[in-house]
Amino acid sequence: MKALTYHSAKDVRVENVPDPMLQQDDDILLRVTATAICGSDLHIFRGKIPAMKSGDILGHEFMGIVEEVGAAVTKVKKGDRVVVPFTISCGHCYFCGRRMFAACETTNTGRGAIMNKKNVRPGAGLFGYSHLYGGYSGGQAEYVRVPKANSGPLVIPPGLADERVLFLSDILPTGYQAVANAELGPGSSVAIFGAGPVGLMAAACARLVGVERIFMIDELDYRLRFAAETYGVEPINFREVDDPAELIIERTDFRGVDASIDAVGFEAKGSAVETMLTDLKLEGSSGKALRQAIAATRRGGVVSVPGVYAGFIHGFLFGDAFEKGLVFRMGQTHTQRHMPELLEHIQAGRLHPEVIITHHLALEDAARGYAIFEQAEESCRKVVLTPGGPRSEAMSPGSATTAPRTP
Ligand SMILES: NC(=O)c1ccc[n+]([C@@H]2O[C@H](COP(=O)([O-])OP(=O)(O)OC[C@H]3O[C@@H](n4cnc5c(N)ncnc54)[C@H](O)[C@@H]3O)[C@@H](O)[C@H]2O)c1
Ligand SMILES: [Zn+2]
Ligand SMILES: [Zn+2]
Repeated sequence: MKALTYHSAKDVRVENVPDPMLQQDDDILLRVTATAICGSDLHIFRGKIPAMKSGDILGHEFMGIVEEVGAAVTKVKKGDRVVVPFTISCGHCYFCGRRMFAACETTNTGRGAIMNKKNVRPGAGLFGYSHLYGGYSGGQAEYVRVPKANSGPLVIPPGLADERVLFLSDILPTGYQAVANAELGPGSSVAIFGAGPVGLMAAACARLVGVERIFMIDELDYRLRFAAETYGVEPINFREVDDPAELIIERTDFRGVDASIDAVGFEAKGSAVETMLTDLKLEGSSGKALRQAIAATRRGGVVSVPGVYAGFIHGFLFGDAFEKGLVFRMGQTHTQRHMPELLEHIQAGRLHPEVIITHHLALEDAARGYAIFEQAEESCRKVVLTPGGPRSEAMSPGSATTAPRTP
């Protein structure tokens, strides 16, 4: 089969690789019908995630048709159309029992990503996300083995196009969990740092729960413009406004927003020194977005962090967070927890996650998709890949944005 494989930084290729096979009784084999490139894949693409091996198959946002089922699979059957969460979770361990699926203790045979780990068990395995996270093959492929099929894949009812439900696999639950963690509701205010796919999904979910005011910060005008048109955010370009938090404080009666969402993560731009130190691996993460989030949030507010962080941050300014009495919530998304509810919102027309798609490409063009998304070329917001090529009506970039302009 064909699959997108990693070789080294900026070198990914679509190659012929052996077909996957069932390995455990509760595995299924999936024929992939649609898969996407995530901002998390860009960390790998840039060579920032350790424990990658040449030939590893990437991709953790995917859906398709069940081709084969293991003997112990009861939740799905051959022929079902399913979306698969990026977190591989057993469904019955200590953490799965608490619906903390990203903390599943049984699916990651790698070392996990905690540096000062003592003997703590690693969290859940992830598809296509290095040998730190279990070394599972990903779904930017024609076929993929899906373990723990009684706890992950969600069956999609007929009548919903792939594009409408694909993001249930990751970025939609991630935006939703970021909003839930931020304790947002009717009348509240939020600053979302990062207008990438995760920031946009957070904006959609913030509107869904009745948030009144959304500030959105990025350096890419085309993403900010889209967010302003689609979700009514107040855009702030940090290349034009040197200190977005200062402006947000001024516009909120000198208090700050109820919560900030950091949808950027450890590769945050805007501090040349921190970018250089992280490139040299002297620093784990850039603290630029986090410091802005702390500064923009009112006393007693929440800083919610879906953006991925790694290792040390020396410029964290924990003292300001203490003085303001802030709450921090963060982590990988407990994807399985949110998927059924979000599917209902999509079915009822309350969420239209597909409006962010700009590029429909064939899986065979995946390497080009990575380059376009990483360089933010062609006003790229989100790339969807289809094995064998995109359906003809969905070919032109931006065609999906003709869908209704509601969240
Ligand atoms: N927690 C989870 O389970 C989970 C799931 C999916 C993605 N993620 C993470 O979420 C983050 C965002 O993902 P994405 O798909 O939107 O990626 P993306 O790279 O497309 O978006 C990031 C955006 O942040 C902007 N940015 C850079 N520096 C900034 C700064 N200092 N202030 C404000 N904006 C800045 C970039 O211009 C870009 O538009 C990534 O770190 C990704 O790994 C986490
Ligand atoms: Zn992802
Ligand atoms: Zn578990």
